[in-house]
Amino acid sequence: MTTQANIYSGFQDTEVDLELSWSEADLPERERTKHVHRLHPYLGKFVPQLVEIFLNRHFSKDSVILDPFAGSGTTLVECSTFGCRSVGVDISAFNALLCRVKTAQFNPFVVETNLRGALNELSMHVKDVRDQLTLDEVLTPLDGDLSEGTSEWLAAWFDPHALSELLTYRALIRKYPETADLMKIVMSRSARSARLVTHFGLDFAKEPQTEPYYCRKHSRTCQPTREAYKFLHRYTLDSIKRVKEYERLRKPVDVTIHHGDSRVIEYGTRFDGLITSPPYPGRIDYHEQHRYAFDLLQLQDLRVDEIGAAKKGTSRSSVDAYVNDITAVFANAREHMSRNALAVIVIDDQRSLYDGILADAGFSIQERLRRHVNRRTGRRQGEFFEEIILARA
Ligand SMILES: C[S@@+](CC[C@H](N)C(=O)[O-])C[C@H]1O[C@@H](n2cnc3c(N)ncnc32)[C@H](O)[C@@H]1O
Repeated sequence: MTTQANIYSGFQDTEVDLELSWSEADLPERERTKHVHRLHPYLGKFVPQLVEIFLNRHFSKDSVILDPFAGSGTTLVECSTFGCRSVGVDISAFNALLCRVKTAQFNPFVVETNLRGALNELSMHVKDVRDQLTLDEVLTPLDGDLSEGTSEWLAAWFDPHALSELLTYRALIRKYPETADLMKIVMSRSARSARLVTHFGLDFAKEPQTEPYYCRKHSRTCQPTREAYKFLHRYTLDSIKRVKEYERLRKPVDVTIHHGDSRVIEYGTRFDGLITSPPYPGRIDYHEQHRYAFDLLQLQDLRVDEIGAAKKGTSRSSVDAYVNDITAVFANAREHMSRNALAVIVIDDQRSLYDGILADAGFSIQERLRRHVNRRTGRRQGEFFEEIILARA
């Protein structure tokens, strides 16, 4: 049987950078998802330890680092614990919010007081709404009209009780302005878990699951969830713990986050380096994966400008458009980078697009490193590798 240990021993003579390839034992999930890195799930993030290694190898505390595809903020969080300034851009308003919350400098005492206070208040309302039957009946005004800003999508993807608990929490957020954004993330994470989806289909659910179902994860019949409170409770406590842990590690450095299009954004500052992982053509819908948050928080939807979205597919014209768009992002970044500054790009370049993209954007490739990507699922057939391109501006 192929084991993790003999996979890695087989790499000794290959071109895999062993310092960048970890087995589960070397780098367990709790390390990959340490402190704020797991404030909210996000499909398509890279391992924080990768960023940490490149910051240590090539940059200093005086560096200013750009991530034009900031995503869930992995680069920005790592820059703040390393102790250097960073700037991130993302087209998804939810991702920009998540980056802001993860890198905010919170007073841990205020975080604990506010988040527990809101949860206590919510628990009083939960009892009232549990006994109600329909959404109309449970949407009793708490502070204004709770039903304001609900959508058909929310009504379809949540049990009325779960939705009422989320909307009650949403109404409470405005009472706590200092921690409002953090509470929005707690609410979004709870909403993700409280959707009408199977336990094994959290990432890729296509239809609401309204009936009991045979659960592949638990090997028994499971019920679609009817409540959000238990998740709000769980993630409130978890978020308080994570924010406190991060607060002890982070340095008091500046983090700037732009919600916008990195093809055209005007940065207004110079960068000493760039660390990023671009979207791949036709693989993930970055807006759609957090649809619950867009609807609950009524965030601005800029999905038409999302590069490489799964929905756009992988036809010849989609891949051509992808190449033009990514080239524009790197060309724009390069204009703001110091001469010879290093770009670290983590990519699964299956279509061999990046030689052309980087040359057209004005970069010269210095090195291509290869790393093994550990998959926790235990599937060992077809080991998966990704590349890290080092290029000079
Ligand atoms: C692979 S993910 C980055 C993940 C990130 N490294 C992390 O660890 O969380 C790519 C990101 O690019 C963003 N994106 C796509 N098109 C964009 C555009 N035109 N401008 C800025 N960001 C964009 C997506 O929203 C997505 O969050």
